[in-house]
Amino acid sequence: MIIARRTLFLFILLALAACTKNTDGPTDNWTYLPVPYTLDYPDEFPIMSLQQTNPMTVQGVNLGRRLYYDPLLHPQGLHACATCHIQDVAFTSSGEVLPHINLGWNSSFLWNGKIEGSMEDIMLFEVEDFFQSDMTRLEADSLYPRLFYEAFGTRTITSTYTARALAQFFRTMISSNARYDKVFTPGSGEFPTEEEQNGYDIFFTEKGDCFHCHGGILFTDNGFHNNGLDTQPSPLGRSQVTGNPNDLGKFKTPTLRNIALTGPYMHDGRYETLEEVIDFYSEGVKTSPTIDPLMKQAHQGGIHLTAKEKSDLLAFLHTLTDTTFTHNPALSSPF
Ligand code: HEC
Ligand code: HEC
Repeated sequence: MIIARRTLFLFILLALAACTKNTDGPTDNWTYLPVPYTLDYPDEFPIMSLQQTNPMTVQGVNLGRRLYYDPLLHPQGLHACATCHIQDVAFTSSGEVLPHINLGWNSSFLWNGKIEGSMEDIMLFEVEDFFQSDMTRLEADSLYPRLFYEAFGTRTITSTYTARALAQFFRTMISSNARYDKVFTPGSGEFPTEEEQNGYDIFFTEKGDCFHCHGGILFTDNGFHNNGLDTQPSPLGRSQVTGNPNDLGKFKTPTLRNIALTGPYMHDGRYETLEEVIDFYSEGVKTSPTIDPLMKQAHQGGIHLTAKEKSDLLAFLHTLTDTTFTHNPALSSPF
């Protein structure tokens, strides 16, 4: 009986509290109970480094996803991140738009590497400098104050929290389930075609030399190189950031995962197709003072592949397409 009466008393207290209007604090039916989010990627992948100040939670990832697809983040509501970064084509669109694939393993961002650091750093740049997002628009929204509270325990919406939520979502944008991951993984029970195997051999040996820059399970060295596109290397590259003339024409090495989907290619979108890119590496490489020493055949214009070798290399590049990534419902629009 005593317990029952106490329970009743508590109930009345709670009911009273719920009636009290509190404009500063969270509304009473809001809860801050963050659920830890576990990233899922194969053992072959390197360990993704996370930020202690921004632990991954289900609520944080969901909020980041919503922000990515919401034009409200733009001060005039002109577009969302996803307007230029389209899931069907691995989160890219036109030539210069870099895709969003496995960026959780990156530490330098944009073609010239202007932003270096954590995922939180690049997201803060996107929110504050690129979009110049207006946080009062999010605060005035009927849903966001609650979603920020549930993710971070605060109803004050800042660009820092917005960047943190986006960073959490970006870390989940993992592509690790291409045909490559099956047929070139021993014990998977699936095997490459003869063309794919030949292409693999070209890619990963001195014959094609691609692996020096696009090697490893992530298919990028996360570095900057002049791969010989022009005799007068572009001043828009890495040198724009470092001020060092030795960095003229150097650009971020893009991952080749999902490469068949992300054309047109190169920082200026100069090549429409992968065939053109392969022709470039085969016969079109140009030397210049900053050409990368890893472009070992540059003096003779490229690696000189036969027509058969070119189509084998192309078949190999197609094994990097991951449709479970481009169709992953967890990465699609929540609207
Ligand atoms: C109007 C088109 C457009 C919109 C909208 C857009 N981006 Fe981009 N994004 C680009 C372009 C173009 C690049 C490459 C620019 C560069 O390297 O200088 C890029 C590059 C990036 C990169 C660097 C990727 C890498 O590999 O280094 C990230 C991260 C990124 N965008 C995130 C975002 C986020 C987050 C939003 C929303 C806040 C957003 N983008 C909205 C066009 C867009
Ligand atoms: C010296 C380092 C290096 C080597 C070797 C190299 N690449 Fe690249 N690759 C790059 C860089 C850097 C870029 C971006 C250049 C730019 O846009 O200015 C690039 C761009 C590409 C692109 C376009 C990517 C995109 O998203 O636009 C493809 C495809 C590609 N490389 C395939 C290959 C293949 C195939 C080989 C071997 C035949 C190869 N690469 C060898 C550094 C290299």
